[in-house]
Amino acid sequence: MTETQKQAALAHFSALLDEQDARAQAIAAQSNFVDYAKLNKLIIGVCGGDGIGPTITAEAVRVLKYLLADDVAAGKLEFCIIDGLTIENRAACGKAIPDDVLTALKGCHVILKGPTTTPQQGDGYPNIESANVAMRKALDLFANMRPVRVPERGIDWTFFRENTEGAYAVGSCGANVTDDLAMDFVVTTSEGTRRIAKLAYEFARANNKERVSIVSKANVIKTTDGKFLSLAKEIGSEYPEITTDEWYIDILTAKLIDEKRRRDFRVFVLPNLYGDIITDEAAEFQGGVGTAGSANIGKRYAMFEAIHGSAPRMVKEGRAQYADPCSMLRAAAMLLAHIGKAKESAQLHRALDICMTEERKLAMTGRDTGCTCREFGEYVCVTLEELRG
Ligand code: IPM
Ligand code: MG
Repeated sequence: MTETQKQAALAHFSALLDEQDARAQAIAAQSNFVDYAKLNKLIIGVCGGDGIGPTITAEAVRVLKYLLADDVAAGKLEFCIIDGLTIENRAACGKAIPDDVLTALKGCHVILKGPTTTPQQGDGYPNIESANVAMRKALDLFANMRPVRVPERGIDWTFFRENTEGAYAVGSCGANVTDDLAMDFVVTTSEGTRRIAKLAYEFARANNKERVSIVSKANVIKTTDGKFLSLAKEIGSEYPEITTDEWYIDILTAKLIDEKRRRDFRVFVLPNLYGDIITDEAAEFQGGVGTAGSANIGKRYAMFEAIHGSAPRMVKEGRAQYADPCSMLRAAAMLLAHIGKAKESAQLHRALDICMTEERKLAMTGRDTGCTCREFGEYVCVTLEELRG
């Protein structure tokens, strides 16, 4: 390493330090959660995304419009369609979220977002940051809540993935110090950890979940994971009725496939990257990532999305119309719960349980051997209408 290279790396690190220090202070100064019930009008932003995104998002919007029709008619709720989060537009602007899209997002309270293509080195697009990751940071959506349920196998898990820190905080700002030395950075802040741990424990308390598992790799990643573990434990001590246990991510990954042990797990709280990886594994037990929705929760905004990507291969092979909308429908049900529509949320979850597992009148296969996304959406709507009488 030359002295010039070293100075350049230090300057780079210095800028990251300033940025992360400012972020840590902003989190600590944050006010409380917005009470959606007190708003005169709630605005739901809708971003279709790209790939299969617009196709599956359309079904979720249809169901939401049906369930929220009264509030829309009374002027208490509005949908705001936000275009421009496509990979083509993001690539053309050279930004993870184009400025006008970000302004529009900030004009909403909650957002339903279809999957967006994430560029990676060598795919022909500029290697910009993922739109998901950028949106989570820009709107400070610090908690990624991902439920996985398989009642007949005793699986009832809710993951609280920290969503703005860890390996993702500056994941697109690593340093190529020399041709032979690259470094990335992992970030943990005190308030960033406390707020996700609190949310996980509050959820456990409110929903009578008797166990919270704190997941880390604090035996090796001693500083940042060590801080995450010790602060989450500290929060846990404020909830004496809840059992706290600690797991390293490697053995937890194994225990999720141990049929005897995995039934004991309820709520997990974990750093960003481990949460990313393990929620894909967990979703597989319930039928794959196509069945799993997620809530990205912040104090001012919340965004609801599928846990999977935009499946560009399906589009390339002309199969987009056979994409499974269930992940986005689950996300829509989570959105309903978040805005205080508990009854409608439960009805949609129930309709999905019926259509996806109990009745299965239509099967989705991802190709023309099964039904289309539209047909499945209609099936869910009809089932919902029957449930609501
Ligand atoms: C997820 C996705 C994203 C992530 C990708 C698309 C950037 O895998 O929401 O889990 O890594 O967070
Ligand atoms: Mg993921």
